[in-house]
Amino acid sequence: MEVQNKKWDMKKFSEMRQEVLNQWPTGKEVDFEEAVRYHQNLPKNQIMTNKLREAATKNNTLIQPRAGVALLDEHIELLKFLRQKGKADVLPTTIDSYTRQNRYEEAEKGIKESEKAGRSLLNGFPAVNYGVKKCRKVIESVDCPVQVRHGTPDARLLAEITLAGGFTDFEGGGISYNVPYAKKISIEQSIYYWQYVDRLVGIYEENGISLNREPFGPLTGTLVPPCISHSIGIIEGLLAAEQGVRNITLGYGQCGNLIQDVAAVETLKELSAEYLKDYDVMLTTAFHQWMGGFPQDEAQAFGVISWGAATAALSKATKVIVKTPHEAFGVPTKEANAEGLRATRQVINMLKDQRMISSQELEKEKEIIKRETRQILSKVYELGEGDWAKGAVRAFEAGVLDVPFAPSQFNAGKILPARDNSGAVRFLNFGSIPFDDKIKEFHRRKLAERAKAENREVSFQMVIDDIYAIGQGMLVGRMDSKIA
Ligand code: 5AD
Repeated sequence: MEVQNKKWDMKKFSEMRQEVLNQWPTGKEVDFEEAVRYHQNLPKNQIMTNKLREAATKNNTLIQPRAGVALLDEHIELLKFLRQKGKADVLPTTIDSYTRQNRYEEAEKGIKESEKAGRSLLNGFPAVNYGVKKCRKVIESVDCPVQVRHGTPDARLLAEITLAGGFTDFEGGGISYNVPYAKKISIEQSIYYWQYVDRLVGIYEENGISLNREPFGPLTGTLVPPCISHSIGIIEGLLAAEQGVRNITLGYGQCGNLIQDVAAVETLKELSAEYLKDYDVMLTTAFHQWMGGFPQDEAQAFGVISWGAATAALSKATKVIVKTPHEAFGVPTKEANAEGLRATRQVINMLKDQRMISSQELEKEKEIIKRETRQILSKVYELGEGDWAKGAVRAFEAGVLDVPFAPSQFNAGKILPARDNSGAVRFLNFGSIPFDDKIKEFHRRKLAERAKAENREVSFQMVIDDIYAIGQGMLVGRMDSKIA
């Protein structure tokens, strides 16, 4: 098999659909025509694309938590709580790890054992096992749009069931839900699975149903340079648009330096508009509060959360995905989750009428990110001989696309990021990323500045120090200044 970035015809899609819907008994509940009618009757305020369009037009930043538990009633109660006590604008349903790995029998056991225990023993909501009707119970219990958030390389059945179940937004992509999550699934394979998901969304669109798709921006979540996540997000956007997707939210995970982060969101908007100009799509952005290690202390965690909220507001991202003060420990209580939302809301409200002043530094940072992203994407396009799907596969083989700290054996893992003296994420090792000398020189100079300030050599130890820094109370992992 060699994947191609070409819209699937109905015959290819329908043949695969039979197989997909047979993967678990709840697949039989999917009746596409009936699902289209269900979506036609959904209240307007439950359609994600309406909310996103309105926010983008008014320059507002929506707030969204992550949340999912094993039991249906408990999950409904959780979502209502986050809406009422956290004032979430839009809701998620985070899917459990068994479902993400298509291990539905184990998810079933998890449900049974959770029922016995009277509390959730899964780290998310097993939507495939619950099936279409029970997903609709979730949707009908709340008064805003609900998105599926997961981390699934093969999400074909999950998409069929949740979209028929009334969810109006589906996160993920063939690269972003493979490389950070799986070890042994080839890029080619997961791109193929995700073409199915995108084609399914495209078919809903062709039937008048507006759905949103969101590639997972943060990837591994730790020290991912903006050009890496931008390149992958734009490729996934292009692959989705080719299959008929009409609404795409591109994501970016906070790095921590304000100027770099604002430059990243602004360039994500500008570059995606440029690369997707031949498609009729609505593009929006999602800013993820810090996705790396968190401080255990709740007060310190609120500091991290608030800084993310401030950056999201100043960058005018369409949506911010919110962390909780329990981040260092695992799945949060609903109270902690609502607290993260309220802290975020406070900061967003205080900053929503303020703008980042366009400065030379901001412009310079934007120029760098654009140059880097264009150099990576040109090489991907060249390797694919004009085909973004082939290009993506070959670019991972060649290390032209390379995600730091990813478990996938199909990822080169040769680049190394580290913070510069002001905390912006730079390249310490370029691996096979195709940058010109000018860009490479810029990164070397930035890291040399830090090394001089810290009176040590630029080295791998900096990378390690930076990975742990935020959890220990700092942004830059300097040797002498830990507060925790
Ligand atoms: N509920 C709430 N948050 C969750 N996360 C993952 N699963 C859940 C869940 N069931 C969050 C954690 C993690 C991030 C990727 O998603 O914050 O760091």
